[in-house]
Amino acid sequence: MFWRSFLAFWLGMAAIVAVGVALTASVAWQRVTSLDRLSPANLMQDASQLARLEGETGLRRWVQAMDRRYSALRIYLVGENGQDLLGREIPLRVRDLLDSTPESYASDALRGMAYYAAPSSPDAVRLSWWEPQSVVLPSGESLRVVFQPYDASQWDALGAWQVLVALIAIALVVTAPLCWLLARAVNKPVQGIQHAARLLAVGRLDARTPAALSGRGDALGQLSRDFDAMAERMQDFVQAHEALLRNVAHELRSPLARLQLSVELARRKDGTLDLQLDRIAREGERLDELVGNTLRLARLGGMTLPADAVDLSEIVDQVVENGRFEASARGVRIAWHVANAVPMRGDHASLESAVENILRNAIRHSRQDGLVQVSLSADADRARVEILDAGPGVPEAELARIFQPFYRVRSAVPTGGGAGLGLSIVQACARAHGGEVLAANAGGQDGQGGLRVSLVLPRRLAREGGASGRDGFAAPHQFAAEAEQPVVGQLQMVQRDAP
Ligand SMILES: Nc1ncnc2c1ncn2[C@@H]1O[C@H](COP(=O)(O)OP(=O)(O)O)[C@@H](O)[C@H]1O
Ligand SMILES: [Mg+2]
Repeated sequence: MFWRSFLAFWLGMAAIVAVGVALTASVAWQRVTSLDRLSPANLMQDASQLARLEGETGLRRWVQAMDRRYSALRIYLVGENGQDLLGREIPLRVRDLLDSTPESYASDALRGMAYYAAPSSPDAVRLSWWEPQSVVLPSGESLRVVFQPYDASQWDALGAWQVLVALIAIALVVTAPLCWLLARAVNKPVQGIQHAARLLAVGRLDARTPAALSGRGDALGQLSRDFDAMAERMQDFVQAHEALLRNVAHELRSPLARLQLSVELARRKDGTLDLQLDRIAREGERLDELVGNTLRLARLGGMTLPADAVDLSEIVDQVVENGRFEASARGVRIAWHVANAVPMRGDHASLESAVENILRNAIRHSRQDGLVQVSLSADADRARVEILDAGPGVPEAELARIFQPFYRVRSAVPTGGGAGLGLSIVQACARAHGGEVLAANAGGQDGQGGLRVSLVLPRRLAREGGASGRDGFAAPHQFAAEAEQPVVGQLQMVQRDAP
């Protein structure tokens, strides 16, 4: 694009300059050659005749007339006072010429009519254009005459309006098609993008720019690729939201239906009232949890880089303590030893719910008497919470999908499982913090290996810097020093505990 327009402009400029120079040169040349018909002797003859018959006024008129007719010739009439007869300023080189040629030389030698005969006449004297001549007025005063031929530069020729008009016309003729081509080269791709943008605006999310445009290597190609990428993401985004909405509606339906059924049964007063009331209460809880999780997910989607001072070690510790009751009820042990403080920037509530979701999955899926291993490690930049359970893991093909909202592994035993929102909340939290969550099957022998879920979060300590950044932490730890040391999880301890 750049080179094409550069070349076009350059060629256009070159054409205009070349034509302009040629035109002015030819006009100047014509003016100069027009002097070929003149000779200084003829001119002096006219001048002396006029001086004799009409005096100063005649000469003045003559100079003006000559000026108009021959733009390549200037005639100066200099009186004894050294002034031009027409009051014009006398150029320095004309003055030099006058000074270097004594008046006597001209006047003595050339005074008198006979010398100024026509060049064809036998008495003709060959005069030089460059020598100052003299004419004598009737008053007896003598005027010196200086010719300045070929004085018109080529640029003087521009003074003629015909030349100017011709030049402007040529410039127009050269630039108009160039600009038209240039405008078309820019307009067409822009219209392509505009068309796609309008389609997108009226809800056609599959609108993309023309393929020929996005394949271009220039800035417009880049713009169209960026536009397509944006449209792609918008489409994904909207589709994900539509799916979420559909799923929420769908998930609300079954507990509501069960609720209605229980209400119907309760009305029959057939002795199962308490049972129905229990069901109603349970469905109410499910609905509450579903709505709460959906809201949490939506809120996390709009959250970006929460920056409260939190201690991840304290959060994990709290979650594990809360989980011990549920674990012991299922006969599952949790291996976790409080690590050093891991200060970082984040949102306490959402980090807590993320770790809780991973841990509760691990407890729920672990076999009885199994061990859930929780570890926390950190370096200066990142913190990693890892939870490994003693369950069956997740089929490899479904590993990537367990983070999608409402996705549940089909083969899994439905032992009080949720709606499939837990891990999507974890992922939304990780993303809001600029981190990620990963799941992998540990793949140990004799069904020992369960699912290992890792939550990796940037600590974002450096950005804060200084003491003020750390003042936000309530715990009186020396966070700066600890931040440098890796906080190693208690896996070794765990292995010793393990049966
Ligand atoms: N530790 C785990 N071991 C085996 N399967 C798991 C584990 N954690 C999650 N899953 C599977 O991933 C799916 C999604 O989990 P999650 O989003 O937490 O939904 P749910 O609300 O069912 O707990 C679950 O249906 C479950 O089958
Ligand atoms: Mg869950």
